[in-house]
Amino acid sequence: MPDTLTIQDNRTGKTYEIPIVDGTIRSTDLKQIKTGADDFGLMAYDPAFLNTASTRSAITDIDGDKGILRYRGYPIEQLAEHSTYLEVAYLLLHGDLPNESQLQEWETSISQHTVVHENVKQLMEGFRYDAHPMGMFISTVAAMSTFYPDAKNVRDPECRMKQIHRLIAKAPTIAAFSYRHCQGRPYNYPHNRLGYTANFLAMMFKMTDNPYEPHQVLARALDILFILHADHEQNCSTNAMRAIGSSEADPYSALAGAAAALYGPLHGGANEAVLNMLQEIGHVKNVPGFIEEVKAGKRKLMGFGHRIYKNYDPRAKIIKRTADEVFAVTGRNPLLDIAIELEKIALNEEYFVKRKLYPNVDFYSGLIYEAMGLPMSIFPVLFAIPRAAGWLAQWSEMLQDSEQKIARPRQIYTGSDVRDYVPLGKRK
Ligand code: ACO
Repeated sequence: MPDTLTIQDNRTGKTYEIPIVDGTIRSTDLKQIKTGADDFGLMAYDPAFLNTASTRSAITDIDGDKGILRYRGYPIEQLAEHSTYLEVAYLLLHGDLPNESQLQEWETSISQHTVVHENVKQLMEGFRYDAHPMGMFISTVAAMSTFYPDAKNVRDPECRMKQIHRLIAKAPTIAAFSYRHCQGRPYNYPHNRLGYTANFLAMMFKMTDNPYEPHQVLARALDILFILHADHEQNCSTNAMRAIGSSEADPYSALAGAAAALYGPLHGGANEAVLNMLQEIGHVKNVPGFIEEVKAGKRKLMGFGHRIYKNYDPRAKIIKRTADEVFAVTGRNPLLDIAIELEKIALNEEYFVKRKLYPNVDFYSGLIYEAMGLPMSIFPVLFAIPRAAGWLAQWSEMLQDSEQKIARPRQIYTGSDVRDYVPLGKRK
């Protein structure tokens, strides 16, 4: 049987043979289906990209029905157990795990790019005392494009890689500065002898003259969370990164846009929303009442549901295990009992079963962050730091893809037909 689709246009009686490649037809092949010479041709209408592949990508593979997530072919479970965030970032960016010398070179380079220009620091000091850390993060990353004007040479692979090193190295510094700013505490400069996540914790929590050694279990837990958040194929923020990057904007501007997309409560803001929800529920005894409200359509169960996963999010399983390790150090987060009860009831309720709603990555991550002393307002920033690797890998792939052009969807115009301008005095 040929790999084609036969379409009969009942408006004209004509038939068309359209190739199917990788289970996909090209929307542009529909353009030939016309009713007449002045017809633009058939388009595919797909608001929110529910069934449209915008790219070919070799980075992240998700099977939402089976609950599978792989980076460059490696199962997320194996990476979370054996790898480090920096190694995973290398994998995402280069396509393969580094050998020993490549890893050493990569880690050294990242540790040497952690410091930000003093003017970046001054710029951050200009934010209001209560500025949201994510707003500071987004604006500061955008401002970095003015510090590295060479970054606009996006077609130069060497230049691209230089910006990638800078962005991955400086993201934790900007994130920690934004936290220290809203705490009214002096910013801590990076500690390059520490690993990526340990350095981040030190920049967050070190007080002036106390030597600060991050707890190894907590630093590792954060590293695992960073691995889990490093990429997730064509999600809302990655799509923003690719769309902005497709105009050949520099990567700082594009990454700031991606981070802005991540900020929303339906995306990276969900873990903050989960904690607010758990606090509002307040006690295990209130869980059944809350679930009734969700079923009645009055509320959303935050941290549940996913556009792609129609099974347990594999990242949520790993996070649940990591939570136990963290709570063994920090003490149990009392909100955990409410979360477990919510999950238990929801997984057995027809409303959730029918809609295939399972816990997603954000259902438990906020509880871990809170136990580690990380305030809610920094949660989206904690998502943005590791996702920088995924955004940049996707951006780089997009620029090297000869099929990609400036992203420009079409529309179905639903407004007025042509009409004459009415002078102000004659309008109703
Ligand atoms: N609580 C209650 N009902 C839900 C939830 C939820 N969390 N999520 C989806 N539903 C319901 C919808 O109301 C809809 O019901 P209906 O068919 O009766 O109208 C059905 O399930 C399908 O939901 P959609 O909104 O069509 O699913 P979509 O793929 O558009 O949305 C999303 C996915 C945005 C993640 C959604 O599930 C949601 O809002 N979840 C809560 C927020 C959240 O946790 N976001 C984090 C996602 S993970 C991430 O970004 C890292």
